[in-house]
This record gives sequence, structure tokens and C-alpha cells, in this order.
Amino acid sequence: MNVESEVRRRIQERGKITFAAFMEVALYWSQGGYYTGREPVGAVGDYYTSPAVHPAFGALMAVQLYQMWQVMDRPAIFTALELGAGNGLLCRDITDYAAQLPDGFAKSLHYVCLDRRSVTRVEQRGSSIGRVLSDVVPFRGLEGCVLSNEYLDAFPVHQVVMTNDGLKEVYVGLEGDNLVELTDKLSNPALESRLKDLGITLVEGQTAEINLRLAPWANGVAGALERGFVLTIDYGRTARDLYHAEQRARGTLVTYHQHVQTDSPLTRIGSQDITAQVDFTSVEAVGRRAGLGTLGLVTQRKFLSQLGLGYLQQHVIKQSPTPRQAQANMAGISDLVRPGGLGDFKVMIQAKNVGTPALWGLEQSPGPIGLVEGLPVPVLTDDHLSLTDARYPGAETEFEAFWQVTESEGSDESGIPPVA
Ligand SMILES: C[S@@+](CC[C@H](N)C(=O)[O-])C[C@H]1O[C@@H](n2cnc3c(N)ncnc32)[C@H](O)[C@@H]1O
Repeated sequence: MNVESEVRRRIQERGKITFAAFMEVALYWSQGGYYTGREPVGAVGDYYTSPAVHPAFGALMAVQLYQMWQVMDRPAIFTALELGAGNGLLCRDITDYAAQLPDGFAKSLHYVCLDRRSVTRVEQRGSSIGRVLSDVVPFRGLEGCVLSNEYLDAFPVHQVVMTNDGLKEVYVGLEGDNLVELTDKLSNPALESRLKDLGITLVEGQTAEINLRLAPWANGVAGALERGFVLTIDYGRTARDLYHAEQRARGTLVTYHQHVQTDSPLTRIGSQDITAQVDFTSVEAVGRRAGLGTLGLVTQRKFLSQLGLGYLQQHVIKQSPTPRQAQANMAGISDLVRPGGLGDFKVMIQAKNVGTPALWGLEQSPGPIGLVEGLPVPVLTDDHLSLTDARYPGAETEFEAFWQVTESEGSDESGIPPVA
């Protein structure tokens, strides 16, 4: 039986299902959901993520983890728990770069990759890298950092729509033989409460996605951490921006198949990704309720730049054996901070029992430059995507030297006051 038949079977058995229930089956049904099939990330997949674009991403994450370890007074075991670790490339890039960082950081760093599908490509390097197959966080008493990249956007979301008869929910049902979207009363009062808590009133005709799994995520993460940080990277917005009546009247739900973005979740069920932007105001709120204080929310462009991306970009050419490789490395690093693309992703850092330290990724400081200077700059490997080959095969292309980050940028991005 394929995923679409499973969706139909469930509807025939129980009647229409919420969009969130449909998304759970389409993405994660164990016998053929999207994430149980082939690798989705990369040139032959359906989309790419920052770790695939350039190892500078993982290197600078390692720099941020190193500083977290320092501000926590260098615990003997510093756990980096990566949620939704996917193909394990970020783990590899972080641990590779961490091995060069000073003060014995690599010895304290215990990296754990967690995913609800099996994590590929993670090579066992001694006993310091663990793999956990789970869709919850089965830990207690950790000291360190729980990190994720493009993890919260992969959670199933409910869809709601404002009608002239009030707020309704979108369901997936059958009309004859056809799978269709239907609207009916809310399946859960928490949907209306979420919008009310956010102070959001949708206008008639407006559709929006609501992720009710954020609170269980925050409770799981805060429960696992005795002391440390939560570092979340994803595409998303603050609630005011996300639920803007004119700019996002139809919500933000999209589908990806072979690098083409559409918004037709009822087609290619099981062979396309379905995702929605993250509401970072709610991430902050559920975190606060679970005991996590927010230290800041900045763009990926600002985060990576403040951790030393400019230095890596200036020096990567020297370490690229051929002009073509130099160009590919330059393109990859630039893509990580590209406006309108990965550069606009958000980075939120929350904390528990560590006070309110000024973190390098959130605020400009000389610390990270002193660290990355003198270390070899990481270069693309066969496991990364070559943007020059993927997008412009055979072409000689010029790339912007570097997307400059202006001072004003990011200073008032969140509208979320830092509290810890
Ligand atoms: C969009 S992919 C991102 C993969 C990787 N972090 C990257 O940046 O390439 C989302 C990943 O999160 C995993 N995932 C989604 N929900 C999860 C859950 N509740 N528990 C564990 N993993 C989950 C999926 O299996 C998938 O590997």
C-alpha cells in the first residue's frame, strides 16, 4: 500500500482528517512517508539546507558551541544534541571543526544525532557521537546545547481559515474518488487560543498554519536540559509578520519536489516535502513557559557574520586547489547569507540556568575572529552541494564578494524582548 492509499483508508475508516493528521501520514508514515524514502536533501533530492551548502555553516556553529562551553565554565561533558539531524552532515562538519578548537573542547564535546528516521553518513568517531532514533527527546540532566536546523518547520501543522461564520479548520476528506480540502469546526480549541494569545485576528478569507507541537517540543527540550542552551535555526517570522493579512493571506504552507516549490499538498503524496514557516513568537512563548529564557533572535546572515563568516570567505580561496573549486567555495559561503534566501532564516537562542551571557552569534564581538584566525578554512567535500555545478554547470560565474551586514539590520528584528 502506498501513502496515498493509507490516507484514503484512514478517511474511509474515520471520516475527514485534520490537515495536521494528513501531514503526519504524508511525511512520516513508517511504510512509505516522505521522510522514510530516499534522501531529500541535495542536488538529486528535493531541496537543500545550509549544512549541504558549505561546511562553513557547521564550522561557525562549532565556534558558537565552543563559546557556550566557555561561558558554562567548561563542563567535562558538554552535550550537543542535534534534533532532526537528517543525513548527519552538520554533525560531521561541527565535530571536524571542533577538533581544531583550543582548550580541549573536542574532548568535552559529546555529539548526539537524534532523528525519527535513521541518520546516515555519521561516521562513528570514537564514542563521542551518538545516534538516537526517536521522535521525542528521551534525555534528562544534559549540560550543553540542543540545536536544530530546519527541524520545527517539518512538524505537522493545522490549517485554519477565517470565514464569515468565524474561525474554521481545514481537513482532508474524500469527494467521490477525489481527495479534497474541506473546512469545518475546529478540532481543538487550542487553535483559537493560540491566535488569541498572540493577539492575532485573521481577516475573512485568510488562511494560516498553526503548529501545536511546539509546546511538547519546548517541554521535552527544557526537561532534558539541566543547564545550557537551545539553538534553533529555521525559516520563519514573528507572529505579527507571519500572520500578516495582506502579505501572507494564504498562509506559508509549501511543497517541494525536485527543487520546485508549489503549494499542492494533495498531489505527489509521499514523494514531496510539505512544510510551513515557523512562528518564532510562539517558539519564544512555549519556551518561556517551559523554563527557557530567550537570549535573542537574529537572521542567519547576522549570526554567521558575527561568528566570523567574512574571515572564512576572505581566506577560502587560498585553500581551494583550483579556480573552479575556489569559485564553488565562494558561492557556497555567499549562499549561506544570501538575502531573500538562507540569509533571511532566523536563529533563536534560548537558555536555562546559565544566566544571560552575551553570545558571539547574537552580538558583535572580537572573540570569534581571534578563534577562527589561523585555523584552516573548511572547504566543500563530495558530500556538499557545489552550487556552481548545480546551478550553472560548465559556466564561469562571478559571485558577489560578500553580502554585507548593516548595523541596523537585525537590531529590532524580533520584537521579542530578550529575557532569561
Ligand atoms: C527538513 S529536514 C532537515 C534535516 C537536517 N537538519 C538538515 O538541515 O539538512 C527535517 C528532519 O527532521 C526530522 N524530524 C521531523 N520531526 C521530527 C521529530 N519529531 N523527531 C525527530 N526528528 C524529526 C525529519 O525526519 C528530518 O530528517
